[in-house]
Amino acid sequence: MDKLVIQGVASLKGEVTISGSKNAALPIMAATLLTSEDCVIRNVPMLRDTKTMVALLKSLGKKVEFSKNKLTVTQPAALKHIADYKLVSTMRGSFCVLGPLLAKLQKAKVSLPGGCVIGIRPVDLHIKGLTALNAMMNFDNGYVIAKTKGLKGAHIYLGGVFGSSVLATANVMMAATLARGTTVIESAACEPEVEDLANMLIDMGAKITGHGSPKITIVGVKKLSGVNYKVIPDRIEAGTYVLAAAATRSNITIKGANYTHLMSLMDKLEEAGIKVINEKGIIHVKARKVIKPVSVATHPYPGFPTDLQAQFLAVMALAGGISVITDRVYPDRFIHIAELNRMGANIRREGTNAIAQGVKKLYGAPVMASDLRASAALVIAGLAAEGTTEVHRIYHLERGYEKLEEKLVALGANVWKEKA
Ligand code: UD1
Repeated sequence: MDKLVIQGVASLKGEVTISGSKNAALPIMAATLLTSEDCVIRNVPMLRDTKTMVALLKSLGKKVEFSKNKLTVTQPAALKHIADYKLVSTMRGSFCVLGPLLAKLQKAKVSLPGGCVIGIRPVDLHIKGLTALNAMMNFDNGYVIAKTKGLKGAHIYLGGVFGSSVLATANVMMAATLARGTTVIESAACEPEVEDLANMLIDMGAKITGHGSPKITIVGVKKLSGVNYKVIPDRIEAGTYVLAAAATRSNITIKGANYTHLMSLMDKLEEAGIKVINEKGIIHVKARKVIKPVSVATHPYPGFPTDLQAQFLAVMALAGGISVITDRVYPDRFIHIAELNRMGANIRREGTNAIAQGVKKLYGAPVMASDLRASAALVIAGLAAEGTTEVHRIYHLERGYEKLEEKLVALGANVWKEKA
């Protein structure tokens, strides 16, 4: 197993180009199941997770070529309806094949994804939404078995205890594209990744309006066609580099990101005294020596993303005072606190809050990555820390950050991979 070695304190400079969005690409790849025609998807990040989705599509009968960030999906034979445990359990994003399979084949058997270190992660909203579309949903031996005599449009409220759900909205929206009649999803997720999926479906011939807002209307069509589509940039990757610059008090330039997708982060950075300038789509980060403490709570989009909570906490660990970081999307997503504290941070957890008393310095240490975004927080801390940090279990990072080591080295960081 590889580890990432970081020699700090890094002084980052130069520019970094942002890859395509992982969380947009995964449901977009699943949406190719809605047509038997050829699909070309561009700007797909070459990551462990997108490769898992390629394997899943292949296991379902698609032929997939994936090179240079371009995916070509064709269908040489009939689709299969069973999504295997081995492929769904390693990545929750796989669960969004359920809606397309059900719509296309009137049946699907998809392994339940299970929980992970960031929380229990139920699928009740997926089940509720698809049931409302006239599907019969049963559970057997760790699988969801879905059947329908024909999907029918419905008026569905899809809000849950923690607000809207990204992948439940994606699953229901994809299924509704081929349902008879009109579907209205209330309390739909507004994330740019859901909007991107809707735009791709529209290019395939779907009739969707309201995407990007909490009320999405889908008028079912008989058939969807092939598509040639480009995935949006990854806002979480972009936010991670912005926060790496903030923690190391560096000035860097970020190309290819969508600034408007990051407004909640930019607002908090301004409060922290970090200057971020958006110049015709190019983002310049000018960090300051003194980081002001800023409190934040995560919310569904356009609120502060839970996927940047850990990285933001790594920056606040170095602020000149106390900040309170609350996760309202995944209340248990705080496993990184203990690892950051091993590097000299002073953070304690109280319920759904992380309370950080900023320290002057962090110190390098061997640390253990627990999940994708927590790993990114440890990399940020390692870049800002004095001495050597070893981030173990970097396969988590490989799930979501394309060419991370290469991009950091190009920014002047002293980072390399080693066998652990
Ligand atoms: C997606 C993202 C993930 C991100 C998350 C929240 C992908 C592949 N993953 O995950 O990176 O952290 O959005 O922005 O896009 N919930 C329920 N019932 C459900 C579904 C979800 O209660 O049926 C809860 C979850 O436990 C969580 C909240 O709703 O508390 C939001 O989760 P959701 O938006 O569904 O996350 P994912 O779509 O799985």
